[in-house]
Amino acid sequence: MENLKSYIGLNKDRFINELIELLKIPSISADSAYSQDVLNTADAVKEALEKAGCDLVEICDTPGYPIVYGEKIIDASLPTVLVYGHYDVQPADPIELWTSPPFEPVIKTTPAHPEGAIFARGACDDKGQMYMHVKALEYMTVNGNLPCNVKFMLEGEEEIGSPSLAWFVERNQEKLSNDVILISDTGMISNAQPSITTGLRGLSYVEVEVTGPNRDLHSGLYGGAVANPINILSKMIASLHDENNHITIPGFYDGVEELTLEERAEMAKAPFSLEAYKNALNIDDVYGENGYTTNERNSIRPTLDVNGIWGGYTGEGAKTVIASKAHAKISMRLVPNQDWKVITELFTKHFESIAPKSVKVKVTPHHGGQGYVTPIDNIGYKAANKAYTQSFGVPAIPQRSGGSIPIVALFEQELKSKSILMGFGLDSDAIHSPNEHFGVFNYLKGIETIPLFYKYFTEMFK
Ligand code: BES
Ligand code: MN
Ligand code: MN
Repeated sequence: MENLKSYIGLNKDRFINELIELLKIPSISADSAYSQDVLNTADAVKEALEKAGCDLVEICDTPGYPIVYGEKIIDASLPTVLVYGHYDVQPADPIELWTSPPFEPVIKTTPAHPEGAIFARGACDDKGQMYMHVKALEYMTVNGNLPCNVKFMLEGEEEIGSPSLAWFVERNQEKLSNDVILISDTGMISNAQPSITTGLRGLSYVEVEVTGPNRDLHSGLYGGAVANPINILSKMIASLHDENNHITIPGFYDGVEELTLEERAEMAKAPFSLEAYKNALNIDDVYGENGYTTNERNSIRPTLDVNGIWGGYTGEGAKTVIASKAHAKISMRLVPNQDWKVITELFTKHFESIAPKSVKVKVTPHHGGQGYVTPIDNIGYKAANKAYTQSFGVPAIPQRSGGSIPIVALFEQELKSKSILMGFGLDSDAIHSPNEHFGVFNYLKGIETIPLFYKYFTEMFK
């Protein structure tokens, strides 16, 4: 693969421009106003896979948005890599905080990306990372060095919890059969220190509604005499953590995997500067569960966070009112041995039990999924590490991430294969936030590392 670097060097402007075109389509799966854009993106992805050399590409209908399936089967006796990614993106709001429009991609430099980064919603999560795989396939087919079979399964509903994916996987086990699943939808430590994600947290996402009186009331005439749902909801939410920032839901920590001191010492070796972390977020101190470091808090420990809270009067000026209802959206990130359905039930029971008689409480589960942890003694991990070592010049570090990709546990269960999480984003790339971006260096390094993974995986598979 001597010509890998030169091929990327010669074609990098086109690679960037093609990604920019894809990023212009606002494929926001959460908002039905963009449904045609999501479908158009599926078409664009299909065309890209065809051009990159797939022999068969299909838009597969599901109860929701379609899955784009592509394949290039060169020899049934060779291993098969299944690439998973998503072509849908998060909503762009709050839009006024973007320094350039979210669907008009531009390249700007940042401290982490002195050579430039593409700014657009989905640049890193996940269109840019997904497209690295398309361009890596192009390289391998154009240069006649694709060493194994490849399949693509690209979905358009990841950001809303992949509601149709289990449906699709169950019905297409044969079609999706593979020897390893390759996913670039996570991050790495830094451009100088690559890492391979070996764990993802599970997720339970719920919405709560607290109802007090049957109508909004004058806060002078009724204030102090009836329960104020916003006051009550705030109290209830505050009580979900104790003074050590432990979650108070009974049974929440049952069976939670406790890492050994050796494992925690191993984790602590990853380069990390608390000062830089605080500076990047403009905070004077970090906050979290007592007894754990920042990196432990956001990877190996379960958490509970309010993602949104509303009720009452929030318009201009003042309105003296006691609202009839208060609401919140709450996410719980889970670790191995916590089952998201059990946790959702425990939450519901506990939340109902702590409500005073003066209000009614309704808990509505949204979506969820199991966490994932993978050992590093399999050939998928070893091949990935060999690829990183070659392209970055240093070996990758295994790292458990705090994010969730619930379908990874489903793949293991249904397709019986391991997922290798080769992410090239940085935490500072602002995924899900205003000004999301993806480093040009990262994009091109990804395209360079992927064919090496194919090569080493195929060699080790024999
Ligand atoms: N790509 C992210 C997950 C991610 C990002 C994992 C960075 C590790 C590092 C994915 O698109 C995502 O946003 N997942 C959601 C969950 C999903 C069910 C909506 C999440 O983690 O909030
Ligand atoms: Mn993603
Ligand atoms: Mn995401």
